[in-house]
Amino acid sequence: MKRIFSGIQPTGNLHLGNYLGAIRNWVRLQGEFECLFCVVDLHAITVWQDPAELTANIRKTAAAMIACGVDAERNIIFNQSQVPGHAQLAWIFNCVARMGWLNRMTQFKEKAGKHRENASVGLYAYPNLMAADILLYKATHVPVGEDQKQHLELTRDIAQKFNTDFGKPVFPIVEPLIFGPATRVMSLRDGSKKMSKSDASDYSRINLTDDADTIALKIRKAKTDPDPLPDTVEGLADRPEAENLVGIYAALAELEPEAVTSQFGGWLFSRFKEALAELAVERLAPVTAEMNRLQADPRYVEAVLARGAERANDLAAPVLREVYGVVGFLGRDGAGGT
Ligand code: TYM
Repeated sequence: MKRIFSGIQPTGNLHLGNYLGAIRNWVRLQGEFECLFCVVDLHAITVWQDPAELTANIRKTAAAMIACGVDAERNIIFNQSQVPGHAQLAWIFNCVARMGWLNRMTQFKEKAGKHRENASVGLYAYPNLMAADILLYKATHVPVGEDQKQHLELTRDIAQKFNTDFGKPVFPIVEPLIFGPATRVMSLRDGSKKMSKSDASDYSRINLTDDADTIALKIRKAKTDPDPLPDTVEGLADRPEAENLVGIYAALAELEPEAVTSQFGGWLFSRFKEALAELAVERLAPVTAEMNRLQADPRYVEAVLARGAERANDLAAPVLREVYGVVGFLGRDGAGGT
């Protein structure tokens, strides 16, 4: 049986990278697979979150998923903290994963920066919780952007080690699904950095809540080099900002980058940016409108999350029971009983 799990952190505004790299692919997969889409609030608190803002961001993130086209009936949409199995399985994985594995995680190094000693233990163990998210449901496929690839390799290592240590094929070895022309959308201000919720400059990203004027302004101000667009994709080599804008256009227009360079080759960026802004507004306006509508109806979003958590708990309970039994925990009903 194929089952999809993916998650998104409620740590600020969702942006074009989240949409093109992840959520749009979720929408495409939802008919084919049984899917769980999670607002990962336990992951969010690995760095400080103001409690009131966190609550608002959980609602907002769920609203964004729905506004992008994730069907709340067909799929399970929920927030992680409401299914205790995530934290319970994560603890077991803390005891399976090796320090050496976590020491190799590039995202921890980037996020902790020079202040490693001051980073939370949660930030360090973050990938173990991510493995627990996925394996609590024995999910087989995980659609994400390129930046999550290393974490998914760790998930595979954890599943494999657990199965080997206990001599039972409890967990599947998950397949990452990283596809589409925008698996890594870069910052509009710096073509070497990925577009990110945590970038200090709001001009680095297009938020799903930005209005048409803001989107156009941010694209107009996006960094480029002085040359016109090349007429082949080879001509984008060593031009990261140009490559990023062509990639965004291609993703929004659902074209290959080759089709974009052959259409716009020779154009000045000032003109190409106008075409890109028009396309971005056209594609994002319905999402923004729907987000605004949903944000005005928080009870609806809360009901989706509550129902999702119930359904997720039902799927998680037998897996957790099985794992407790395999590990040897004694419960009310014998090993694994709770
Ligand atoms: P997060 O919240 O950083 O991002 C959510 C999704 O958006 C993708 N993404 C991007 N794709 C393309 N270009 C970008 N600039 C860009 N920025 C973000 C991410 O790859 C991701 O798919 N650790 C995860 C959340 C998580 C998770 C999970 C994901 C927790 N548990 C289990 C999958 C399965 C994260 O921080 O995503």
